[in-house]
Amino acid sequence: MPRLTVESLRGGIVGLDTPIPLLGGGRRRYVFLDNAASTPTFRFVLDAISAFMPWYSGVHRGTGYKAVVATRAFDETRKVVGSFVGSDPTENVVIYGNNTTGLINMLAARFDFRPDDVVIATMMEHHSNDLPWRKHCRVVHVGIDGRGGVDLAALRGALAQYSGRVRLIAVSGASNVTGFINPIHEIAEICHAAGASILVDAAQLVAHRKVDVLDNDDPRHIDFLVFSGHKIYAPFGIGALVGPRSFFAQGEPVHVGGGAVSFVSIDEVEWSDPPNRDEAGSPNVVGAVALAASLRILSAVGLENVEDHERELLAYCTDRARSVPGIRLYGPADEPGAKVGVLPFTLDGFDHSLVATILSAEGGIGVRNGNFCAQVFTRTLLDVTPEEEKSQRAARCDNPLLPGMVRASLGCYNSREDVDLFIDMLHRIVKRDFRGKYSIDPESGAYRAEGYSVDVPALFTAGGFIAAPEAK
Ligand code: ALA
Repeated sequence: MPRLTVESLRGGIVGLDTPIPLLGGGRRRYVFLDNAASTPTFRFVLDAISAFMPWYSGVHRGTGYKAVVATRAFDETRKVVGSFVGSDPTENVVIYGNNTTGLINMLAARFDFRPDDVVIATMMEHHSNDLPWRKHCRVVHVGIDGRGGVDLAALRGALAQYSGRVRLIAVSGASNVTGFINPIHEIAEICHAAGASILVDAAQLVAHRKVDVLDNDDPRHIDFLVFSGHKIYAPFGIGALVGPRSFFAQGEPVHVGGGAVSFVSIDEVEWSDPPNRDEAGSPNVVGAVALAASLRILSAVGLENVEDHERELLAYCTDRARSVPGIRLYGPADEPGAKVGVLPFTLDGFDHSLVATILSAEGGIGVRNGNFCAQVFTRTLLDVTPEEEKSQRAARCDNPLLPGMVRASLGCYNSREDVDLFIDMLHRIVKRDFRGKYSIDPESGAYRAEGYSVDVPALFTAGGFIAAPEAK
């Protein structure tokens, strides 16, 4: 493999130079600052898929040559995933699912909760690391401390209050709203001392920091860790959950069917050993190959180099953002080292949705706005009162008219030029130096720019999806 650097990753991003039309004419390469939602694809990942596809076959089912090759490749991907997060394969398994949300739902259903059991979540969780637990168990939410992370004193307090009843703490490795990185090993130690386990939602963490779950006999180890391929440059419908083999060797799987069983009669079923027990149906082999390729690339580059680059870029972005009149930054903006590259903000006098729409239409810049599927946390950061919260209940999630923020989020391939284009556009917005006329579409509640619309390429509309054959 050629020596890989963070710089070389930028040249290997699929679609980095895709030109898009701007309002008022002209085109610009799309500036992708929405990596916390989903990342683009590494070219290496596409290459790995292309190399694998001639060998594609169903896995664990056939004796044909390709079935054997594909099965070996698929099994190998688990080793890559496990080793990427320092997991010992004799103690732990890697279970695949669609994404972080699906896997947390599965895990929550796999816990054999007793009526009195408690799960501790935090006020900064994404809905996906809160609602699945609420479905099965009593959830107690601990708050945020002055630095913007989980309040460890409150956590200790909750563990003492519900002593002997807390089965798990479910905590984000890094916040998808502020980027704050929680001290997961310190939290793990606190939980283990109280007899509880820890799940880290690492969806926002693994692409940006080296993560090590540590040995299972280390009091600071992470019991369960989950993340998605689509946030780590391999958006092919796969997520991975790492957890103790002994846990998944117990109990019934949530989804049952082929692959999850070793013996079936009319009266009896014996479940397979992990990880197959929790992977009923044909698995996402291509997604697993893509994920393994991406993790190998990031390991070759070195997560510490990714971290250095993103830290420096976030500091630059935050510094430049402060020059924008009327900008409010949320979360620990003074500590770029304490967070992954996420910058949530509002501009005084402008709806978050309007800012995001102008950035897109006139700057060709992709960001996300709203509440980022973390309504509790976003409302807290925005100081929304209980009365205001009540009056907003009828609105649908992420309604652009609800209080919210704009979020720019960086990946390993973003550059100072991306940041400059973004900040220059914010300066134009606050000076009202934009060209478009913007109004709210009463149906969607979103802003639209007069005379500007997104032309979806015909390839991706009805009757499309088959590229025209090249003329011979
Ligand atoms: N969880 C993703 C985000 O924060 C979708 O945007």
